Amino acid sequence: MARPHIVIGVCGSIAAFKIAVLHKHIRDHAEVTVAMTPSATQFVGPQTFLALTRNPVITTLFEPANTKPKHIDLADELDLLLIAPATANILAKAAHGIADEAVSTLIMSVLPGAVPVAFAPAMNTRMWQNPATVANVKLLRERGYHFIEPDAGDLACGWQGEGRLAEPQVIADKVFALLKLDGSKAAG
Ligand SMILES: Cc1cc2nc3c(=O)[nH]c(=O)nc-3n(C[C@H](O)[C@H](O)[C@H](O)COP(=O)(O)O)c2cc1C
Repeated sequence: MARPHIVIGVCGSIAAFKIAVLHKHIRDHAEVTVAMTPSATQFVGPQTFLALTRNPVITTLFEPANTKPKHIDLADELDLLLIAPATANILAKAAHGIADEAVSTLIMSVLPGAVPVAFAPAMNTRMWQNPATVANVKLLRERGYHFIEPDAGDLACGWQGEGRLAEPQVIADKVFALLKLDGSKAAG
């Protein structure tokens, strides 16, 4: 495959900053565009991802300069859609077809069988174990979405338990595997 195009949908989690580290692992192997939910921009400024990826960061659906909506352009172009960190909220929206901002609309604009769509969840243990989240994850798996399991450990909220975003290297390795890419030269 020529240099693949990966779109990362960043959501409103304290783990959003780790996507800057993830970018370091994949930048030599893929073109990266970042889309952010409004909540994600509370955690990391779009300028950070603009500077790292050197591609415009998608934070809104409504950009008057575009003839074709940006999320449709991106959905046409991308080779893999990664949602990381994926909040309980985005999992619920994806499971139920809600498209009310840039990231959820992008998810709805990509058919999971056409290109790989992967979620790397990050949330408090109770949110991860909540029956609503468990049911949403099950539904999404059945529909062909991929999951990069969260780790157990210290959480930013002060808890210890399941729900910490998988390590950036683990996420990168899964992305490479889904794209059938040799990521062995990824940054350590
Ligand atoms: C400090 C802080 C940290 C948060 N971390 C998470 C998190 O890791 N995972 C999660 O699902 N929600 C987390 N939330 C709640 C989400 O930001 C909230 O549900 C938001 O509506 C998610 O929007 P989004 O899915 O559109 O990004 C956090 C909220 C705050 C204030």
